[in-house]
Amino acid sequence: MVYYIRFLKTPRTQIVKGFVSVSALISITTDLGDAFLAEDVELQVQLIDVSDPETESKLTSKSKSAAIVIDNTNKWEAGKRELKISTNSIKIDKKISKVVLAVGPKIGGSTTLDTDLSDAKRVPLVIAGWSAPFAVAQHSEAEKVIERRFVLQNDTRLRIWEETGNNIARHIWDAALAAIICLQDTNTSGKCSMPRLQSRFRAQSKEQLQVIELGSGCGIVGIALAQMLFRCSVTLTDLAEVNDIMERNLQIAQSAAAESETRFRVLDWEEELDADVTEKPIDLVLVSDCTYNADSLPALVQVLDRLVQASPAAVVLVSLKRRHESEAVFFDLMRQSALVVLEESVHSLPAPYSEQDRIEMYLFGRQAD
Ligand SMILES: C[S@@+](CC[C@H](N)C(=O)[O-])C[C@H]1O[C@@H](n2cnc3c(N)ncnc32)[C@H](O)[C@@H]1O
Repeated sequence: MVYYIRFLKTPRTQIVKGFVSVSALISITTDLGDAFLAEDVELQVQLIDVSDPETESKLTSKSKSAAIVIDNTNKWEAGKRELKISTNSIKIDKKISKVVLAVGPKIGGSTTLDTDLSDAKRVPLVIAGWSAPFAVAQHSEAEKVIERRFVLQNDTRLRIWEETGNNIARHIWDAALAAIICLQDTNTSGKCSMPRLQSRFRAQSKEQLQVIELGSGCGIVGIALAQMLFRCSVTLTDLAEVNDIMERNLQIAQSAAAESETRFRVLDWEEELDADVTEKPIDLVLVSDCTYNADSLPALVQVLDRLVQASPAAVVLVSLKRRHESEAVFFDLMRQSALVVLEESVHSLPAPYSEQDRIEMYLFGRQAD
């Protein structure tokens, strides 16, 4: 399992006699928040000038380095549950009004902290995080959110905001990272392990692929797909509680996935499906890390069944990390709904002590009569 930098206390500025320093309290935990990283890791802590957000979004790796105001290292030690990070105190140029604090694993001599998702082998054990912009000319505190920045194949960037609390829906889960790697491999012919899914992607050059994601959380998988496939239509769905974080991510997706359509709607598996959800034929249903709670599986499978009944040619891509034995019920319920596994693959993510974590991917579809 990978580990995520989390802000227990978001960055804040201290100003003493005109010298500015920034501090934050971080932790490094799993997606579930049930374990702290039990390995020493060298961390890179960067204060980055984002006074002009327009310029910031267009920075190349060379100009990015120029925007780094402070670049410090810090050490996370095995056995820790939290770490206070404080930057050096420096005089800040008056032209700098807003900064962000980025914390991530130090990887070789590189200054970039972006997480490489172009290939499973390149994913680091620790996923870096960026704070929201905050002022440096006065005492201030960053908003309680954290941004993840990923590099996808073809060097495109994926930016996703999470909330800092422990809420299940409002942060990213490991299976989402594996799902994105699988979708990329499927989209680029090379290492594809899902040829049926690939032919769906190929067919979309003629017609716009219609995609719906269930339990999309922050929207990372659906948004990544919208960026990868030009001109697809992705409806992200979840409970109403993700509204704010989703809106933030969809706003970024509007330029990053400008050719595709992305939207959010509330869809609670426990409630009757609105008729308009099934009005237009769906090609692909995405489900990432939604099988962890056995109690909600009957409702989830019922929604999948309804969607595929309305669009019999639809396929369902399920990405799952087994956390309990009880998740096996999902497969029994899918079988009862005549949804069979058409294709499957396993993706590895790094785990401590050079071990590997397994994420399973299944493509389900209706059994041919
Ligand atoms: C573990 S999170 C996975 C989020 C995201 N797919 C990812 O992989 O990062 C499970 C998601 O399922 C959603 N969920 C749980 N029960 C639900 C329900 N009854 N109806 C709709 N969504 C639900 C949660 O709100 C949460 O966003």
